[in-house]
Amino acid sequence: MDGTAPGRQTETKANAARSALGPRGRGLFGRLFDGLRGVPTSRREAMTIAIASGKGGTGKSFLATSLAVLLHRQGARTVLVDCDFGLACDHLLLGVKPTLTLQNLLAGQCTIDQALVTSPCGPRLLPGASGVRRMANPSDKDLLAFARELGGLAGREDVLLLDLGAGIAPATVLTMLAADWIVLVTQPEIAALVDAYAVVKCIAQLNARARFLVVVNRVGTPGRGELAFQRLTEVAKAHVGVELRYLGELPDDDSVMQHRLGQLPLVATDPSAATPQALAALAKTLELTCGGFSPREVASDQGLEARFRQHRLFL
Ligand SMILES: Nc1ncnc2c1ncn2[C@@H]1O[C@H](COP(=O)(O)OP(=O)(O)OP(=O)(O)O)[C@@H](O)[C@H]1O
Ligand SMILES: [Mg+2]
Repeated sequence: MDGTAPGRQTETKANAARSALGPRGRGLFGRLFDGLRGVPTSRREAMTIAIASGKGGTGKSFLATSLAVLLHRQGARTVLVDCDFGLACDHLLLGVKPTLTLQNLLAGQCTIDQALVTSPCGPRLLPGASGVRRMANPSDKDLLAFARELGGLAGREDVLLLDLGAGIAPATVLTMLAADWIVLVTQPEIAALVDAYAVVKCIAQLNARARFLVVVNRVGTPGRGELAFQRLTEVAKAHVGVELRYLGELPDDDSVMQHRLGQLPLVATDPSAATPQALAALAKTLELTCGGFSPREVASDQGLEARFRQHRLFL
């Protein structure tokens, strides 16, 4: 006996075990010993918002990059993560030329701070890989590494915007399940609404508490967006018992199409035009709906990384 009180002995052993390990092992052992001691741990985490759609090409990346600029200007520490595994393009829409991407990060070839780029308009981007087949179908090891990196980012930012690929590929579904909010981007026509409903159904079956916000993009006649939303939410309520919330509509606007890749986003180059104004209104509504963008206190077993890992078990 060394005369140390039993509680102190456990702590001393825990500290010895921690110091013999690297940073990752220390994290794991820290959680294990904290669990054994029954000490509830919590930390502050960013709000995570996944931008998703059923049908492809509905305007997710346009919305995600615009929101990243607007939320940054609203004062939130914002990181946009290009989660369109394999076909990433947010760097082009934000006017940056990254040298490192999520692929290098997950392969352990760089740190997250080396991969993050600050775009000319302010928000930071974790660029995705484009045309990389391995990234289009990430392995379980990749997904776990991704969860760890996202968890790390969430611990030091206010908002994470996750720009997803279209549809319900496993990695896309997993990211939606782990996010705090899912912004579903659709167009007013029936094919896009049907696909949007398919996403709601798929996610609601896996997580009954998922929260959806709907943006109707490329609306020809003002007000059509809300009508389309009404149809979608009625079907979702009737068939899967999910209540959707309406975030707003964006006009079908030729200047969006004509905007060249590599230029700064429209919200920066032409902020007083109709579409950037509608985007600014959306960003404000998003902030109100989410209850602000200050980091929130979350229990350590309910943080972003933990949610990602838990949902992964049920995919
Ligand atoms: N409101 C709009 N008015 C006109 N064109 C738009 C509008 N929103 C997006 N677009 C155009 O639609 C195309 C698809 O947009 P975007 O790449 O943002 O879609 P996406 O949902 O991210 O596509 P993907 O599913 O391939 O990731 C782009 O050419 C974009 O310029
Ligand atoms: Mg996209």
